[in-house]
Amino acid sequence: MRLSAAFITGFCALLLALPAPTMASISIVDLLSSSPDFTLLVRVLQRTGLIPVLNMARNVTFFAPSDEVLKKLPTDFDIPTLLQYLIITDPIVSYNMTEEEAVYFSYLRAPAAPDVPLPLRVQRLLSSHRETADDAGMQLVIGSGAAKVVMHDWVADNGIIQVVDAMVPLPGTLCEAAVGSANKGDIHLFSQLFVKHPMICFLLQYAQDTATLLVPVDSAFDVLNDVELSYLMVNAGHDDRLRFLGSHFLYSSVYRQNDTLGLGTNVPSMSGAMVNIKKSERGIKFNGQVDTIESDVVFQNGVIHTLPSFLISWSFFEFSPRKYLYGLNATRFTDELLFHKYDSVLDDTNRVQTIFAPVDPEGGDMPVSAKTLEYHFTDGLIDSLDGSMILPSRLSLPSLRGRRQHILVTIDENGEFWIDGKSKVLRAPLLIGNTAIIPIDRALDLPPSLHYAAGSIFEAHTTLQIFESLGLFDDDVVKGSTIFFPDDSAWEKIGSVAKFILSSSDVAKELLCSLMFTEPVYSSDFNSANSSDYETAAGTRVSIKTNDSKTSIKFNMGNVETVASLGSIDILFDGGVVHTISSIPIPESINITPRQLLDAEHITSFVELLESASLAKDVIADDSQYIILAPANSVLAVSNITTATVDLAIQMGLHILSRRSTPGGSFLSGLSVYDTLVSGVHVSILSELSDNMYELRIVKHPLIERIQPIRVLSSGVSTSGAEIYVIDRVLPMSVLNAIADPPWWQAHGVLVGLGASGGILAMVIIGLFWFLIIYRGGKNWRHRQALGGNDKSFVRFRRSFSESGRSIIINANGSDEEDDDDDDAIGEDTPFLGRAASGRLGSRVNIEDFGDVDEDAEEVELPSRSNEHCSG
Ligand SMILES: *[C@@H]1O[C@H](CO)[C@@H](O)[C@H](O)[C@H]1NC(C)=O
Ligand SMILES: *[C@@H]1O[C@H](CO)[C@@H](O)[C@H](O)[C@H]1NC(C)=O
Ligand SMILES: *[C@@H]1O[C@H](CO)[C@@H](O)[C@H](O)[C@H]1NC(C)=O
Ligand SMILES: *[C@@H]1O[C@H](CO)[C@@H](O)[C@H](O)[C@H]1NC(C)=O
Ligand SMILES: *[C@@H]1O[C@H](CO)[C@@H](O)[C@H](O)[C@H]1NC(C)=O
Repeated sequence: MRLSAAFITGFCALLLALPAPTMASISIVDLLSSSPDFTLLVRVLQRTGLIPVLNMARNVTFFAPSDEVLKKLPTDFDIPTLLQYLIITDPIVSYNMTEEEAVYFSYLRAPAAPDVPLPLRVQRLLSSHRETADDAGMQLVIGSGAAKVVMHDWVADNGIIQVVDAMVPLPGTLCEAAVGSANKGDIHLFSQLFVKHPMICFLLQYAQDTATLLVPVDSAFDVLNDVELSYLMVNAGHDDRLRFLGSHFLYSSVYRQNDTLGLGTNVPSMSGAMVNIKKSERGIKFNGQVDTIESDVVFQNGVIHTLPSFLISWSFFEFSPRKYLYGLNATRFTDELLFHKYDSVLDDTNRVQTIFAPVDPEGGDMPVSAKTLEYHFTDGLIDSLDGSMILPSRLSLPSLRGRRQHILVTIDENGEFWIDGKSKVLRAPLLIGNTAIIPIDRALDLPPSLHYAAGSIFEAHTTLQIFESLGLFDDDVVKGSTIFFPDDSAWEKIGSVAKFILSSSDVAKELLCSLMFTEPVYSSDFNSANSSDYETAAGTRVSIKTNDSKTSIKFNMGNVETVASLGSIDILFDGGVVHTISSIPIPESINITPRQLLDAEHITSFVELLESASLAKDVIADDSQYIILAPANSVLAVSNITTATVDLAIQMGLHILSRRSTPGGSFLSGLSVYDTLVSGVHVSILSELSDNMYELRIVKHPLIERIQPIRVLSSGVSTSGAEIYVIDRVLPMSVLNAIADPPWWQAHGVLVGLGASGGILAMVIIGLFWFLIIYRGGKNWRHRQALGGNDKSFVRFRRSFSESGRSIIINANGSDEEDDDDDDAIGEDTPFLGRAASGRLGSRVNIEDFGDVDEDAEEVELPSRSNEHCSG
């Protein structure tokens, strides 16, 4: 009805502009009437009053449906309107069409814009256009491919008839156009938003009203980042999306470029904001700044203008952490936060905070426990991730005695960041106001119990077992604590000392409790400039200081300083934090005597012999500083040495070395020569043959020496500095015999020989002298073979010995470490300061792997489970 009225109005205006028809000419209606194929069409034209329209028209094209087409039409078709739509105000001759496709305008006006004809699209199907009217074959397709021209270019005096095989539907509605662009074109982002609000279209349709839709093209959305755009797309963005669409929707009014009406005024948009409309050279200017890209795209119930930018600014959206979280698809997490009344936290852009936001998996849901919500927040703005960090979360826990649980950020070898080792960071922090949001792929769990957390420290197996057997895991003492966990290498390093400590639960507990601080100290609290002082669970005080790179830590326990390298740091558990250390600081209160070490190694036979030789009192006194090479019981059992052995004191004395204050590291490093208790006999380590296998050089006279391979089964250092080495050999009596004082002529032979007796005698004596040396050398060599030494290594080191004399330096660790005497330098390999443990000394000694020589090798005996705790 409206359409017909509009048509009549438009047509009357057209009628006045047209010249009067010439009666002699053949009109379109004449042509149609002359053919039997259009009887029905002519009748319909008559009935709908279109005959005069066609007769008075000039230079038009009529796409005429044959009777066949009309007969097939459903009865509810608005035939008069559709027929008017097929009258085009331009003459279209198929062979004159040079374009592949052209838009022509119909006589039919849109009700929304009565002075604008509806467009009709015509396509030329054949690639070459025809030259003459006779040249058959050109195909025209009109509408959206719905109708084909089956008879071309029927020329009347007032226009052209093109016979079509179907009726063509009218152009769609505004909504159909807007929604139909959702998957194509350069306005698909706006369309995607529009599609989500079918109610707009429903209202428009229901009220049979018109509208002007201002559509920002896709590039206009560049003012939004992907998260902001994503927010507009998700359910939670509903209200803002509707506001945004509304601000680009002028309801109940059609504003076109060539309208005189309405232009230059302020009109309300659907969202209530006023929009200023002004005609411009290119089209229409909105709000004085946005020019249309394409104007006046007409549809049944309105027009669309495309815009290069939004009519509103970015601040219109009032983005907040809450909106960003939804935009990131952290929907479940955000819903949960709002359910628990964290609105103010999420809507305040001034609040300085960082949120670790678990993002829902595609098409799924990310469960978040209400108890852990605050654990996802940290105060402070983390605007970039660059390395590991430990951050206090907003969650305070009773298990930490009211302190805040921490969040650990680490980086893996691929440069990916992880939170608490389990949640992967999905992208760099996003900033909105003073809030940073870091999306993660799963919700954070609170750090587990100590038992569970420590269970993952594979390298601290021994300490774990001690904790277990002392019942420390379940002890209240671990609440709100820092625990330094010696790793397995730390226990190995102290060798026999470890055996001693582990043989008594009291000592073990005292040690571990003094490595437990009564407050959590995270790596972020480590200080490399000053020492920080802490109370231990053992009731003592310890101060710590790290090196600059925080890779090692110096413990100061009273007078004892120990440097340990830090292994795994910041292992979080429900009650605090664990760091592993590779050396064991032994508190002052634990006194380790030589006898305790020998007992821990079950060295009984050797001690008996020492006592019998009256050496024990001195050598294994509490303040002894001797180096004791103690043969294992099994070794002494098969030797012929007994308390009855003659020269027992000499035999034993060969195993006792006195310290020399010469620099150069420990005994096994081979840098120093030591006196034995046997006067005039010195020993030193010549070389390390293999793991724990050494060549011992025994020297009596500068020209007389023995090379004795020994295996060090275990070692340890007492508090006073005595070093105990359990060895697999008795240094043989034969050695002493062989290097007994040389006969007078051997020592002074050369002088005697150079007497008056003359040259011949001298030569005989020199000859004898060399014979003896060569003979004895050979004997020694055979002896070494009998001992099963490594001949190859022996030869090699022997040679290097003769080449470079005493300057051979064999690093027991096999590393090219430089000696740094700087007291402040705390390096991984720096030997322990003070007495705490033996540093590099016994680093190869494995307390669980004594090699195949020592039949007495035993497992570490762990102290039995105790119910007493650190404080007990
Ligand atoms: C029809 O078109 C021809 C040329 O195409 C033109 O000369 C003539 O004036 C037009 N007639 C009307 C009535 O517009
Ligand atoms: C077709 O085009 C030619 C010139 O290219 C023109 O002379 C002729 O009038 C056109 N025919 C119609 C029907 O417009
Ligand atoms: C509007 O008017 C301008 C001239 O002012 C004209 O060039 C343009 O084609 C007209 N647009 C429409 C859609 O009629
Ligand atoms: C949120 O999820 C939707 C649907 O899975 C996806 O298209 C969109 O890109 C996501 N947003 C972000 C910021 O990843
Ligand atoms: C011990 O003495 C016996 C007999 O005197 C001898 O056969 C054996 O070789 C000796 N063993 C050692 C290790 O010297």
